[in-house]
Amino acid sequence: QKLDIELAAIEKGGYDHFMLKEIFEQPQTIFDSLRGRLDAEQQTITLSGVDKIKDKLIAANRIIIVACGTSWHAGLLAEYVIEELCRINVEVEYASEFRYRNPIITDKDVIIAISQSGETADTLVAIENAKKQGATIFGLVNVVGSSIARLSDAGAYTHAGPEIGVASTKAFTAQLALLYLIALKVGLEKQTIDSTLFNKLLGDLAKVPQYVHEILEEQDSVIKEIADKYSDARDFLYLGRGYNFPIALEGALKLKEISYIHAEGYPAAEMKHGPIALVDEQLPVVFVATKDNYHEKIVSNIQEIKARKGRVIAVVSQGDNVAASLADDVMVVPQVHEIIAPILSVIPLQLLSYYIGINRGLDVDKPRNLAKSVTVE
Ligand code: G6P
Repeated sequence: QKLDIELAAIEKGGYDHFMLKEIFEQPQTIFDSLRGRLDAEQQTITLSGVDKIKDKLIAANRIIIVACGTSWHAGLLAEYVIEELCRINVEVEYASEFRYRNPIITDKDVIIAISQSGETADTLVAIENAKKQGATIFGLVNVVGSSIARLSDAGAYTHAGPEIGVASTKAFTAQLALLYLIALKVGLEKQTIDSTLFNKLLGDLAKVPQYVHEILEEQDSVIKEIADKYSDARDFLYLGRGYNFPIALEGALKLKEISYIHAEGYPAAEMKHGPIALVDEQLPVVFVATKDNYHEKIVSNIQEIKARKGRVIAVVSQGDNVAASLADDVMVVPQVHEIIAPILSVIPLQLLSYYIGINRGLDVDKPRNLAKSVTVE
């Protein structure tokens, strides 16, 4: 038994939990998902899976993204990014819903299936059905040789390495990195993105591993202290707009999974249509408020929460004193282009959930009732 304990400790590489190890691995895993694909000097992207179905992608009537859980959140961000950069219609579907309704699918549709495990039953059956109806399937999968990878017509692996923590962290950021590459590559081929923006985004993306490293170095102890302040909360609200909206959803999901605290993610502007009724001096509201083209909108949303005595925790861009001065607590990330910002803003939220889960004495690697891979319905 002593040997088992020692082996487990070695596997965790000096960290107390797999979740924390995997959070801290992200500079490397994001780098691995970009390696050999993104060449910042030559300003090129190499993705043989995309090349394989390039004509289909460029002529696609629609892209339908199917996924579950955290992978679905990556898909939601991909919708925003692909529509912006490639001007292709994108729909994001929960695999479980998609497989049971009678969706209209043609051979002009490309389905992107996103899955860490490559074994999620709902996602697998959803793409089986779509394939029968003539759609082209692109698999964005972490586990090499998994069922979804094998069923896909083409694909790309995320290369995040084995993810042991049940709640997904490093697989998610690897998915985002890869989705950015796909959108940039297709956008360039389709000429829906100009070379200035392409180069800017490529440059920012290449620096993401370094930026994530900086966030982990500089914010870890800050976030631990924030977690100490809010660990007894009963509910949390997570708000974000635009590219950061999927990150608000992911932040809320992470907290639910790890701490069992009820948390809701919402588009920030939608809060006045319901969730604002929840706000009182007890409610922590997490704003994903990095600098973007309509930053003043989220700043006024923060003011609305403060006016109702809510407690505001904000993820802000370095140098943004406006949002920072309104919030009770801030988590700072480097400023990058708004399209790339979400892959950075999720990192503090992963740590926040981790530390709150730990403060509540929970098994963060194996939350109750959850499975790493849901291979049954
Ligand atoms: C389970 C896991 C989640 C994961 C989801 C989808 O619910 O607990 O972390 O996001 O399945 O899994 P997949 O392997 O398809 O990405």
